[in-house]
Amino acid sequence: MDKNDGYVSGQQLSDQLEISRTAVWKHMKELEKDGYKIEAIQRKGYRIISSPDKVSENTVQWGLNTDWLGHQLYHYKEVASTQDIAHQLAKQGKPHGTVVIADEQVKGKGRMSRPWHSPKGKGIWMSILLRPDLVPVQAPQLTLLAATVLAEVFIQKSELKPQIKWPNDILINHKKVSGILTEMQAEHDQIQYVVLGIGINVNQAADDIQGDLRHKASSLRIESEEEWSIAETIQCILHQFEKTYDQFMSQGFKKVKNVWEKYGYKIGEQVTIKTMKREWQAELIGIEPDGALKARDQKGNEEKLYSAEIMWGEGGYDAK
Ligand code: BTN
Repeated sequence: MDKNDGYVSGQQLSDQLEISRTAVWKHMKELEKDGYKIEAIQRKGYRIISSPDKVSENTVQWGLNTDWLGHQLYHYKEVASTQDIAHQLAKQGKPHGTVVIADEQVKGKGRMSRPWHSPKGKGIWMSILLRPDLVPVQAPQLTLLAATVLAEVFIQKSELKPQIKWPNDILINHKKVSGILTEMQAEHDQIQYVVLGIGINVNQAADDIQGDLRHKASSLRIESEEEWSIAETIQCILHQFEKTYDQFMSQGFKKVKNVWEKYGYKIGEQVTIKTMKREWQAELIGIEPDGALKARDQKGNEEKLYSAEIMWGEGGYDAK
């Protein structure tokens, strides 16, 4: 689009978007209602002076630098769970890369049927609809991939040092700030679609984290001591996710595995592992392409763990 001191004429917009000048004007009014400050000067055109610091379809899509992710984006003020909406959209045939975001979830879902607390305006509660050409056993790779994306974005945007606790919790200073829930619909050994849910505690203050959770959970704001722009952080995640996903689909899992292991919590350290049958000490050594955690016991035997309880530290055992 041609620009003139940041002004774009109504005629240019009308030509480019193939809509009437009146329609351009109506769009400007809509943006103003959404909180944008727009200057309109005769013979120069329109110029955006400031964008609202809130999440909306406009604020996330404006300047979003992706080829396919988030081009269809649904933003809600309040939902039960963005996962449920993404499943409905998937069943209606919405495309790969559709994104659902909410300011608040009143029935947010965590892994293993746990509730996920998703207070209004404090975090990123987002589900991404993917239609990957993968077999169902590869689905865990997408979850591991998403965890690396979040770790990379947190590093890019702050001095924080995120770690990924297997399989996919993002910790900062040993406390969980983010979780990922992957749900899949598959048929005849082929994934129909995946709904990848990302929950990030962004702007909660210390007082917003209740009771027992205080020892285990935190937010980006608490750990970095500054407020984060939620819309901008979503844009960064979508951009990084698309890049990493495209690379994974063309080059395979190796790079994701390496990045995951770089951030892996307690990789190279001793932990206590407990299954139904036994309890033992082992060193965590990495992840496998099927998402398993690899551990080596004191006799040097390697084992792949799919579901086990791990004593990570003071916090006691934690089930996968
Ligand atoms: C976990 O247990 O660590 C996973 C939490 C996943 C939460 C996100 S928030 C967006 C999406 N909608 C949900 O209801 N859950 C996921």
